[in-house]
Amino acid sequence: MYMTARRVRCINGALFLLVGLAACSDAGSERPPLSVVETPPVVEVPTQYASSCGACHSVGVAGAPKTGDANAWAARLEAKGMDGLVASVRNGLNAMPPGGLCNSCSDEDHASLIEYMAAAQ
Ligand code: HEC
Repeated sequence: MYMTARRVRCINGALFLLVGLAACSDAGSERPPLSVVETPPVVEVPTQYASSCGACHSVGVAGAPKTGDANAWAARLEAKGMDGLVASVRNGLNAMPPGGLCNSCSDEDHASLIEYMAAAQ
């Protein structure tokens, strides 16, 4: 089968990235988004999360309950209640350092961060 060089390039591009298809289409057509990573909303909790709790809870370092794992968080909330969980963060728990890397956080801030992580994402 005969293929032009341009068509071969386009097929190669499509194999690697959906974006490759955009390069084949006519100028002016809508491009697919370059990335599926969503920009977090500009509010305090996700920012604070990203610079503290997220370091461990995003991937579950050393047995940390994972962000968005609603079941894991529900079990801990049921066992200790929000006050108990906030106390664990304030005092530290095993591999989690006191304050959870947010020493400027108040108990209310820690509770908001816990709710944020406990919500299914
Ligand atoms: C250095 C890693 C690390 C950071 C940073 C961290 N955590 Fe943790 N966290 C852990 C680990 C590990 C556990 C599991 C501890 C265990 O049960 O042995 C945990 C458990 C918890 C628990 C459950 C405690 C309990 O009593 O069951 C809560 C709540 C929590 N983290 C909240 C937070 C919050 C809020 C932040 C950010 C302010 C945070 N963590 C930052 C590692 C971390």
